[in-house]
Amino acid sequence: MADISAWALQQRAALGSGASFWTTKAVDGIPSIVLTDGPHGVRKQSGSATDHLGLGASEPATCFPPAVGLAQTWDPALVQRVGAALGDESRSLGVQVLLGPGVNIKRDPRCGRNFEYYSEDPLLAGTLGAAWVRGVQSRGVGASVKHFAVNNAEYDRMRASSDVDDRTLREIYLRAFEQVVREAQPWTVMCSYNRINGIYATENAWLLTDVLRDEWGFDGLVVSDWGAVRDRVAAVAAGLDLEMPSTGGVSDADVVAAVQTGALDDAVVTLAAQRVAQLVQRTTENPSESAPFDVDAHHRLAREAAAAAVVLLKNDGDLLPLAPSRLAVIGRFAQTPRYQGGGSSHVNPTRLDIPLDEIRRLAGPHEVTFVPGGSHPDAVADAVAAAQSADTAVLFLGLTAEEESEGFDREHIDLPDDQLRLLREIVAVQPRTVVILAHGGVVRLDAVAELAPAILDGALLGQAGGGGIADVLFGVVNPSGRLAETVPLRLQDTPAFLNFPSESGRTVYGERIFVGYRWYDARGLDVAFPFGHGLSYTRFDYSELQVDDDLAGLRVSVANIGDRVGREVVQAYAALPASDVSRPPRWLIGFAAVTLAPGDRRVVEIPVRRIDLAYWKDRWVVEGGDYRVSVGSSSRDLRLEATVHVEGDAVTRPFTGESTLGELLADPVAAPMVMAAVAEVMPAAGSTPGLGVDLLRMAASIPIERMVGFSGGTVSRAQLDELLAAINSQG
Ligand code: BGC
Repeated sequence: MADISAWALQQRAALGSGASFWTTKAVDGIPSIVLTDGPHGVRKQSGSATDHLGLGASEPATCFPPAVGLAQTWDPALVQRVGAALGDESRSLGVQVLLGPGVNIKRDPRCGRNFEYYSEDPLLAGTLGAAWVRGVQSRGVGASVKHFAVNNAEYDRMRASSDVDDRTLREIYLRAFEQVVREAQPWTVMCSYNRINGIYATENAWLLTDVLRDEWGFDGLVVSDWGAVRDRVAAVAAGLDLEMPSTGGVSDADVVAAVQTGALDDAVVTLAAQRVAQLVQRTTENPSESAPFDVDAHHRLAREAAAAAVVLLKNDGDLLPLAPSRLAVIGRFAQTPRYQGGGSSHVNPTRLDIPLDEIRRLAGPHEVTFVPGGSHPDAVADAVAAAQSADTAVLFLGLTAEEESEGFDREHIDLPDDQLRLLREIVAVQPRTVVILAHGGVVRLDAVAELAPAILDGALLGQAGGGGIADVLFGVVNPSGRLAETVPLRLQDTPAFLNFPSESGRTVYGERIFVGYRWYDARGLDVAFPFGHGLSYTRFDYSELQVDDDLAGLRVSVANIGDRVGREVVQAYAALPASDVSRPPRWLIGFAAVTLAPGDRRVVEIPVRRIDLAYWKDRWVVEGGDYRVSVGSSSRDLRLEATVHVEGDAVTRPFTGESTLGELLADPVAAPMVMAAVAEVMPAAGSTPGLGVDLLRMAASIPIERMVGFSGGTVSRAQLDELLAAINSQG
């Protein structure tokens, strides 16, 4: 690699900002590279019409299911294959860095960009994000995990501050990023537009340097979100390496001037330039001729992923899979599918499956009629007539692209009224009605669930969604998708309802760690469909749960007791009822899938990382105690339970005068020493039956140094310090 430290300051500064909307600068032998969106397809713009709003044209590329769909597969291996295909397409389109994955937590269903994110659960988001990165980077293309961090709303996203306490940050909002960085080593991280506790992400040294690099060991490049940099000098000082897009050299000059006046350390400019050079080297060191990608093979993969993403929410009377019958297909989305979201991730697909065509293809000789539906009385009447004269109605409902997108949030989560009216009229004449849903963010489903006997949730499925839906409808694929997000009964039940969006530039994360199912479970709220839910055309039986010592992993036997091959996603949750801190009633600690033929049984193994038991208190702490482990088919369909003791981490040392009597007594080394000292200065505490224990309990929250004053001169500060030194020296 070039010796960048010997370069002139101007050259080093120049390397740290873009040459154009999508490229870095070529400087002194370091070639320019192309970065582009992401995440579910390559949005490569050529020519002069460049934008990050999804407006201008881009070259054809496969539109895989957006993150909302991919997440519903709960299948890291499949996500990794999609990543690898995206890597191949990037190479063949001349792209060196693909801007994804988006691993922000879905805090509120109204966030306009939820379709680009995976889940309300950090372990699921982190596991899938890491798989995506591994796939893309296996092809020599860099990933850019985004938007770092706490970017959970679109409203005022370029200014608002996400105000979050430390524990919530670590356990919920930074967690998936940490997992992706530690497990998959992405070559770049994209810092977000927003502020975090008042400080812009781009200028946040704690975030970009202390946490990302020093704690997590990130060795790649930090790039700004497009236009996120307000003050390049402050950003470089905090740990930003590359500002995008180009500022026409203006911010390079700011950096040079700041070094010259001594306001910015010359060494950080070198470091940033070295990181750009390292990224260029990583993405160009295998300069093999990039072949055109295999459009057909990628479309097939997109179809496989789409079918795997479909969640069978409800299937009364085994209405699905469809038996050979006359079908009435109703709804515009059957002909003009809603399959991706609006904004920077918008892909120009290589082709597009039309659900109606795919349904006709699989329906064989059976009659399939189509009516678009709508709100006009004639359109409703046509739809009702078609439904009535068929054996089964298949009704497509959902949100249009205008109703949700990057750049703004929704104000409600309702499906359009006219769609619900249409559904009501149709089920009145046709009890065999299947609803198929398309939407980027969660929609309220209580009415649909009450009316329709069968519901398939497609969320957004990408360009081959039409084929994927037909495969599931006719049982070519047995559905195994699971919700990656709770479907609440009402918007008012959601965790951030009163704290969304920001107000006067601040978003208070008042619900703390209680996001998604953690919230609904803690509050005991009913939901329309719980996190992890998804039915199958077969049934599975769980038995013989075995949990390793210290909860290092678990095994459970799963049998297919139905009559079709099927894939079951086994989910494991933990709880610690006697925790010292507030914990959700359960949280996901692992998952694994198994595909079984009818009658087959297999032991499914789920490894558990110790860190997933921990909570954050200045550092990760695993509490000792009896953990309750439950496994099942969803967060509210738990089949087996066990209790296992976990040895806790050693209590924090050293103890100080601020440590409480309770903390000292909880420590096996400190407790006897403290008790001996107490007995010496306060014989009554030990000698009065009953009273001693109560006294200690009452005093548990008193910092030990206050005992000096309370002792009325019996204990001196010097004696206390001696005791603490003796305890701390025990190691
Ligand atoms: C988005 C990013 C995207 C970038 C480049 C921004 O508006 O937030 O996700 O990668 O534009 O298009």
